[in-house]
Formats: sequence, C-alpha cells, structure tokens
Amino acid sequence: MTRRVSTLAIDGGAPVRQTPFPDYVSIGEEEKQAVMEVMDSTVLSKYLGTWSPEFFGGPQVQRLERDWADHFGVKHAVTVNSATSGLYAAMGACGVGPGDEVIVSPYTMSASATAALVYGAIPVFADIDPETFCLSPESIRSRITPLTRAILVVDLFGHPADMDLIMDIAREHDLRVVEDAAQAPGAKLRDAFAGTLGDLGVFSLNYHKTIHTGEGGVVVTNDDDLADRVRLIRNHAEVVVKKKGTTDIVNLIGFNYRMGEIEAAIGREQLRKLERLLTPRLDAAAYLSERLRDLPGLSVPVVRPHVKHGYYLYALKYDESVLGVPRATLAAALKAEGIPMFEGYVEPIYLEPVYQQRIAFGRDGFPFTYPGYRGHATYDRGLCPVTERMHYRELLYTNVCHANIGRSDLDDVVAAFRKVYDNHGALASGLQSGTTHDLSAER
Ligand SMILES: Cc1ncc(COP(=O)(O)O)c(C=O)c1O
Repeated sequence: MTRRVSTLAIDGGAPVRQTPFPDYVSIGEEEKQAVMEVMDSTVLSKYLGTWSPEFFGGPQVQRLERDWADHFGVKHAVTVNSATSGLYAAMGACGVGPGDEVIVSPYTMSASATAALVYGAIPVFADIDPETFCLSPESIRSRITPLTRAILVVDLFGHPADMDLIMDIAREHDLRVVEDAAQAPGAKLRDAFAGTLGDLGVFSLNYHKTIHTGEGGVVVTNDDDLADRVRLIRNHAEVVVKKKGTTDIVNLIGFNYRMGEIEAAIGREQLRKLERLLTPRLDAAAYLSERLRDLPGLSVPVVRPHVKHGYYLYALKYDESVLGVPRATLAAALKAEGIPMFEGYVEPIYLEPVYQQRIAFGRDGFPFTYPGYRGHATYDRGLCPVTERMHYRELLYTNVCHANIGRSDLDDVVAAFRKVYDNHGALASGLQSGTTHDLSAER
C-alpha cells in the first residue's frame, strides 16, 4: 500500500513552519535595573594598570568574581572581556612559549587554537570523539611529543570532554590542561561543573551563549599562582610585576582584557538565572531526542554517563547511506520546511589559511618557522579523519533548544523531519533523475 504524503516545501508544497522560530532572549528587567544602578554610581570601570587596590577592578567586577567562584565551586574566578581573552590569558599563565607544542581540538571556534599561537607555540591538532565531538583521549595520547606543554580541551556544544582520562594523560606527561567551557556553563561531569575540571577553565559571556553580558568571559582555577598570572596578563602585567614583586615574569606581557562594571552587573543577574535558563534547553533536547531517535540513519546527541549536557547547540549525526539521500539534500529539505538546520559546524581549523600557509606573526612564518621549534606538526587534509567525516558528511545541528522555544515549536521540528523522511523516496529518486534540486548549489 502506498502512503499518501504531502508535497515537500522544497518541491513547491506548503512548509510545515510558516513563521520564524523565536529568538533566544536571556536579558530582562533585572539586568536593566542592575545597569541603571551602575549608571547612577557613575563608576563604569575602576581598573588601574598599577599594583594598587584598583588593579583588581571595581565593585561589580569583584562581586561577579565572588559569585562565580561560589556558584562553580572554585577558588578563583577572574573576569575578562571575552572567552578569547580568557583563553589567551590561560595559555599565557601556563607558561607555554616558542618551541612548545599545545594539543588542541580542530573542531571548535578558532580562538581555542589561536591561544597557543599568540604565545609563539605550535598548535597540534588531535582528532575528536565521534559521539561527543570533543577531543578524543586516544588521539591526544598519539599526538604527545617531548615538546608538548599543554592541552586545550573544548566542551563542544555543551557536552563536557572526557576529562577523567584527559587529566590522567596530562598528569602522566606533566602537561597543563585548559578547559574551554565557553559553550558549557552549567554542564556537569558527576558533581563538578564543566570548566572546573582542568587546571584552568574558560567561560564565554558573549551574546550567543546561555548567559551573556554582550561580550565577556570568566577564567576559573583552584591554583593561586595560575590565578595570579591570569590577573596580571589581564591588566598590563609588564608595568605591575616590579611593584608587586613578581619575579617569574615569563609571559607576563600584559594586555587589557578587563571587564567593565556594566557587563559585570549584568553578569551577576545572568548567573542567578543560569539554572532557570539551562533547564529548558535540557527539556527541549530530551523532547526532540525522544521523537527523532527512531528515524533511520539519524543519531540523536549522545550524553555520556554522569554527564549533564549544556545543549548550547543540538547536534545530530546523519548517515546518508541508509536513506540514499545526501546530508545536503536532507538539510535543504528541512530548511525549506522552515526549520533552522545547519550542515557541519566550523571547517576543521587546520584547513584555515593561517595553518595552510603557516603565516601568523611577521613575514617569516613565526612561530611555524622558529628555529628553536624542533617538532613536525602537520596540517594536511586528512589529519583528523573523524573531524572531517563529521564536518563534511555527518553532522547536522539546530539552535532551537532554548528557553524561548515551546512544545509546538519543537513539534514543528519533529513534523518536518517526519515529512522529509516520508518523502525520502521522492528525494532520492529526484536525485537520480536530476529533477529535484541542484545539489552543487547546496554543497
Ligand atoms: C568553544 C569556544 N571557545 C571560545 C569562544 C570565544 O568566545 P568569545 O566570543 O567570548 O571570545 C567561543 C565563542 O563562540 C567558543 O564557542
């Protein structure tokens, strides 16, 4: 018996979803009020780049740092003006420099790898785990050389990396671990928050994140010395160290990574809302996974045992050999039905010009060509096969799991998937006869 199916929107039918999905909004009256109080105080920043009480910033900055440290159960929280700044400061605090290698993920926002480059170290890309998309401990192990100084791990899409194994490897080889938890505020491994599992952790407070201050970031650590060094790098270290009495001045060239009082005041309100904003993400993801998990060739996000996911993004895997419909066609058909669905995440970082052409600082290829670098890092296509398979063939993601999304929105996502799946024969045969879509334009 043939099943009657409605015409796909990509073939001229009516789309499942006729209106845009609601945007994510985490800012409300509390933040507005907090900003007005800072305005009334007239103190928009209190930093001074000298060794003085003002070296640590103004009252809002210091309060946010205390709140953040309490909430995440760490000794030190150091605010910065972005997670990028935080990653750079964390890498600097670890003491990496020219001639060193830092193992990084190729599947993340570019700054996670650039953090090594800015200190003249060489990023060495390890491959990712095909279930969590975070760095694979086995691949990390295979990339360790006598030059390795640190590992920069990313909790991608909000799922904490395999930190137990990664910390074991790091201790075995005496390596520092920076955990990039930009996408994972509130995620957990057992009772510990993502971001607190390495030597240093970095959170982002940029506009796209679960909680935000417009731009901003926080570095956390339980290590007094690392915290001290991050604070110095944040605030003009080179002119502070003498008066402060710091004698180990390696990497203590400072920047201005300071957060303003307005952002800090917003950050305090956002932190208070974190759990309230996170729970709907988990609920939405569970709702979708429950309804999509039986679709052939589709794998819903994996949540490893003892993990609380942060669901910054909801990432699926798709095996096109099962239906005979390429990922690009599936994604195009879902988009035509009105569903925000994206193929792959970011291009594997080692394929960016900075690594392909080995040009970072100056004209001579520093740090790749630094004579003191004795290693052999490569950046050829094929370097991280799992990452490339995920990016170019399997991964699909949507950003609809958040607090402003309702059940009926999620039902539209499910209905669109079901409709496209019900029509997979037409999609596949359209491909063969060439009557459906121009795939070259979708690739
Ligand atoms: C994994 C990861 N690391 C670092 C960053 C950088 O964050 P920021 O924009 O706060 O500098 C981002 C931002 O999207 C990110 O997703």
